[in-house]
Amino acid sequence: MADPVEYLVIGSGVAGMWFALRAAAHGRVTVVTKTTPQESNSAYAQGGIAAVWEDGDDFEHHIEDTLVAGAGLCRRDAVEVTVREGPARVRELIEFGARFTRKDEDPAAYDLHREGGHSHRRILHAADFTGKEMVRALHEAAAEHPNITLLDHHMAVDLVTEGWLARRHGALGPADDRVLGAYVLDERQGTVDVHPAKVVVLATGGAGKVYKYTTNPEIATGDGMAMAWRAGARMGNMEFVQFHPTALFHHKEHHFLVSEALRGEGGKLLLPDGSRFMPRYDDRAELAPRDIVARAIDAELKRRGLDSVFLDMTHLPKAELEHKFPTIFHKLASLGIDMATEPIPVVPAAHYMCGGVICDLHGESSIRNLFAVGEVSCTGLHGANRLASNSLLEAIVFADRAAELARARLEGIPAPQELPGWDTGRAVDNDEQVVISQVWKEIRSFMWSYVGIVRTVRRLERARRRIALLKDEVEDAYWDFRLTAPLVELRNLLNVADMIVKCALKRRESRGLHYVTDFPEPDPRFLTDTVIQRYL
Ligand code: FAD
Ligand code: SIN
Repeated sequence: MADPVEYLVIGSGVAGMWFALRAAAHGRVTVVTKTTPQESNSAYAQGGIAAVWEDGDDFEHHIEDTLVAGAGLCRRDAVEVTVREGPARVRELIEFGARFTRKDEDPAAYDLHREGGHSHRRILHAADFTGKEMVRALHEAAAEHPNITLLDHHMAVDLVTEGWLARRHGALGPADDRVLGAYVLDERQGTVDVHPAKVVVLATGGAGKVYKYTTNPEIATGDGMAMAWRAGARMGNMEFVQFHPTALFHHKEHHFLVSEALRGEGGKLLLPDGSRFMPRYDDRAELAPRDIVARAIDAELKRRGLDSVFLDMTHLPKAELEHKFPTIFHKLASLGIDMATEPIPVVPAAHYMCGGVICDLHGESSIRNLFAVGEVSCTGLHGANRLASNSLLEAIVFADRAAELARARLEGIPAPQELPGWDTGRAVDNDEQVVISQVWKEIRSFMWSYVGIVRTVRRLERARRRIALLKDEVEDAYWDFRLTAPLVELRNLLNVADMIVKCALKRRESRGLHYVTDFPEPDPRFLTDTVIQRYL
């Protein structure tokens, strides 16, 4: 058993590190992270972090933009909290050492980007590597903190709750469940240890890897969502998967993101013949919210049988493109694309999970002392569609609020107890890795084809049947073979796919990111969150 701590944080992206830094003032924090410390969705964020920053903009406009994008499903209080507390958190981020880009003409002021759905320029950024810069600053601060221990290549496998302990012995779980710790796989040793803690924080990020094409890195397998689901937490709005309209289409590079900030700087979407199509779909054209742009591209690709559409930035001089978007400029150049003289081939790809572990305004889940912060959570901020650059903001605002509540709670929580070790049961070494990679590919492929940007009930039902078939196979593998990261992730991906399809089938309307041709219009009877829970 690992040493008991006050706080066990699972995940070392922006949300997890923010919580760790805040909580460390009051207790010992262990952060476990499944690969290298900085690898996370956070590290790839390009466009920036939204916050009301300059005269001319105000909270009401940011709130309104967020509500409009959310298509009627945002929780107003979550939106208010995020928008109003956002600027203070961003200032603290700067105090932690994050260096954001300043205006060329006025170095005392920060340069602000604009992205789809925003009525004002309000996106602070570090050129086009905002996430990397935020992660760097937070990790450097954490490295100096004596109360923070970071364990890399440690993958959380399952949560330990009172309910789980009771159910192991055939009893019913308590009505109000409480978290006690988590089982964690030490990937170097191949062993599973139990980590007891007073407070457990899921900061495991999103689940883009459940789709064949995604802007997300390998870590995004929805582990926290799956663990919370298995533990019986309330989950919500999993049908709202955001597809980013512009991932690079190139045979050598798997869906590298081409930031929406480019459209904020006047980028135009073109068909192969050089004509624009977005004005036909929405008055805001290229700056319409993402769901509209992604669906428009999807429709053009399907109607015309195209491999990609094109994003044209040739109106800006080369030096300006290189200066403003160095990551994108050099990545494209390395692939032989000169964005100053030729349009960039782009396609939509799975990007962000708006749903997740349902949380209150302090990031607490339906299981006591289990918090969820960042992309793994469903706070109500995004509703049916996330406004661009609101997720980094949500991550730090809610991680801060979660740390505040956890700290206030801490004294009243009993000391972590002795917990049972991991039961390896009948597990042997797996000599059939091919089975894991095959099932993994199958899930990602049918999720793309059947549960993608445009859905039909028939295709969703097909996906549901595929999932039911694979469940036994994956559960058998899980208990028969010694745990490895790919096996744990495969089981999690299947749980996440299952939740997405369950929620999608419940919502018999089209709203925000969920578009079903059988019910093409929003229906006021569904103006509510989709909530699912394993033990009901
Ligand atoms: P992450 O940053 O993904 O961190 C999750 C952490 O959990 C990682 O350390 C991971 O290794 C760890 N982990 C996962 N499972 C386990 C496990 N089982 N055990 C242990 N550790 C685990 N949002 C914006 O607001 N602005 C942007 O400009 C922007 N650009 C983006 C660009 C790209 C390419 C992508 C992919 C996303 C972008 N987003 C952007 C979204 C945003 O980056 C994420 O939503 C946000 O960073 C999520 O932060 P997080 O801390 O919740 O999760
Ligand atoms: C982007 O830079 O386009 C991504 C912004 C986001 O996902 O919020």
